[in-house]
Amino acid sequence: MRLHQFLVSLFMITITIAVDITIGDVDSVCEAAKYVADGEWNYYEGLKYGGVVGMFASPNYWWNAGEAFGGMVIYYTFCDNKNESLRDLIVDGMYAQAGSDYNYIPSNQSLTEGNDDQGVWGMAIMEAAERNLTQPSDDHSWIALSQAIFNTMNARWDTSHCSGGLRWQIFTWNSGYDYKNTISNGLLFHLAARLARYTGNDSYVDTAEKVWNWMSDVGFFNRDGDDLIIYDGAKIANNCSAITKTRWSYTYGILLSGCAYLYNHTQDETWKEYSEEIIRVAVDYFQSDGIMSEASCASGSHCNNDQRSFRSLFSRCLGVASVLIPGSDSLMSDFLTKSAEAAAQSCSGGTDGVTCGEDWTASGYDGVYGLGEQMSALEVMLSTIQGNFAAPLTVDTGGNNDTDSEAGLGSEVQTNSNEVKISGKDKAGAGVLTAVVLAILSGGGAWMIF
Ligand SMILES: *[C@@H]1O[C@H](CO)[C@@H](O)[C@H](O)[C@H]1NC(C)=O
Ligand SMILES: *[C@@H]1O[C@H](CO)[C@@H](O)[C@H](O)[C@H]1NC(C)=O
Ligand SMILES: *[C@@H]1O[C@H](CO)[C@@H](O)[C@H](O)[C@H]1NC(C)=O
Ligand SMILES: *[C@@H]1O[C@H](CO)[C@@H](O)[C@H](O)[C@H]1NC(C)=O
Ligand SMILES: *[C@@H]1O[C@H](CO)[C@@H](O)[C@H](O)[C@H]1NC(C)=O
Ligand SMILES: *[C@@H]1O[C@H](CO)[C@@H](O)[C@H](O)[C@H]1NC(C)=O
Ligand SMILES: *[C@@H]1O[C@H](CO)[C@@H](O)[C@H](O)[C@H]1NC(C)=O
Repeated sequence: MRLHQFLVSLFMITITIAVDITIGDVDSVCEAAKYVADGEWNYYEGLKYGGVVGMFASPNYWWNAGEAFGGMVIYYTFCDNKNESLRDLIVDGMYAQAGSDYNYIPSNQSLTEGNDDQGVWGMAIMEAAERNLTQPSDDHSWIALSQAIFNTMNARWDTSHCSGGLRWQIFTWNSGYDYKNTISNGLLFHLAARLARYTGNDSYVDTAEKVWNWMSDVGFFNRDGDDLIIYDGAKIANNCSAITKTRWSYTYGILLSGCAYLYNHTQDETWKEYSEEIIRVAVDYFQSDGIMSEASCASGSHCNNDQRSFRSLFSRCLGVASVLIPGSDSLMSDFLTKSAEAAAQSCSGGTDGVTCGEDWTASGYDGVYGLGEQMSALEVMLSTIQGNFAAPLTVDTGGNNDTDSEAGLGSEVQTNSNEVKISGKDKAGAGVLTAVVLAILSGGGAWMIF
């Protein structure tokens, strides 16, 4: 199928390169994906003089880097796995952000890092394990790093409010410390499911069930007739009873793929049914004219920088679910094909002529660009070829077996939540930040101190 012509302007001459994108054809999708991936590196700080390795340019946050690297691991594996310079960029970038305790709580991020941020990095590091990416060092395997992320998140499980759950934020000084949300808990569930499948250790299944059941009990999922709605979260006040009802595509994605990993490992049909149900409702809700759209903010261009990237994780999660649940492809292939075609069509802007836009229903570039647009376009394209590649590895299918179920829980790290070693300098910064936040919020009269 002829999809789109990329226009590439070089110097003063405009050359028209026709790229045929046939969805499902690996070479064709990878050829188009290369333009998009190259565009993503334009935002990478690690290639700039004096830039920080593993970080992307502002306004992108640390978590966006984790999001980007997860997609890059897949791009490298599927499309460019002989390219050693690409491999080194990915391995070095991901390892540089591990932090001194090798658990993805780097001290530079201690002012802002939330459980969801750490969890999205967990998805990238786990992807590296499952795709057998070159190990970062002799002392640290990707799988042990993934376990460290899981362990430190799980150690923050907080039964003192709402009978369980992770708070959104890790650190007390961040606004959102009084909020428990579906994405943070969903990521703990998701990582537990992947670790269960990868290691075969059923203790991770128990954790996944614990988190799932709590999210269900607290009402983060709601059944409205045939529709399963997955909400954003709730403040801990009044036992998490006032639910914030916004829906986000990546939350659906993380849950539906977590269920798919669990089904693939346990063969328990219940997880398959949950996964397929979420796929059905997500494909129906997060679309406009059958093309993927961040429904809660897309109309009127109200999506912020974070939200403009959510479709990348949503696409990735749908793609892997189609591999882990044989037969589920039929629930999403039309949606992903149409979305990938439309996304490719949007990648026709900017001075390079291949910059991707935000609104894929626009039949072309809509002028809104950034790392989020590049990542989302890249991953929706890659999701259409997942079925051509081996499923994510496990230790039984040749994945690296240097596991460490205690990783991240060493004496250096405060496991009982919400505390971290911070230097005097950072502490001073945190104090100032807390004061500013308190001033702003008490001015608004809406701050509660715990
Ligand atoms: C290898 O990867 C780098 C970094 O993404 C890219 O600039 C380069 O074009 C790639 N080389 C080939 C032959 O694809
Ligand atoms: C932390 O920030 C400093 C100052 O910007 C930078 O030099 C260093 O590379 C950063 N480290 C990491 C791991 O991001
Ligand atoms: C608080 O919410 C949890 C989770 O929904 C529930 O199990 C518990 O019974 C509730 N506690 C009270 C006191 O209502
Ligand atoms: C798990 O995924 C693999 C790869 O697609 C597939 O061969 C296998 O049948 C799946 N397991 C189950 C229980 O469906
Ligand atoms: C992985 O290592 C553990 C010991 O750490 C061992 O018991 C298990 O058999 C190994 N699995 C594989 C597939 O090599
Ligand atoms: C994983 O990578 C290692 C090192 O490159 C290699 O020896 C091994 O064969 C690979 N395993 C699989 C299953 O691809
Ligand atoms: C399985 O995982 C649990 C929790 O992380 C750990 O305590 C236990 O030692 C692990 N079992 C094995 C055989 O690695």
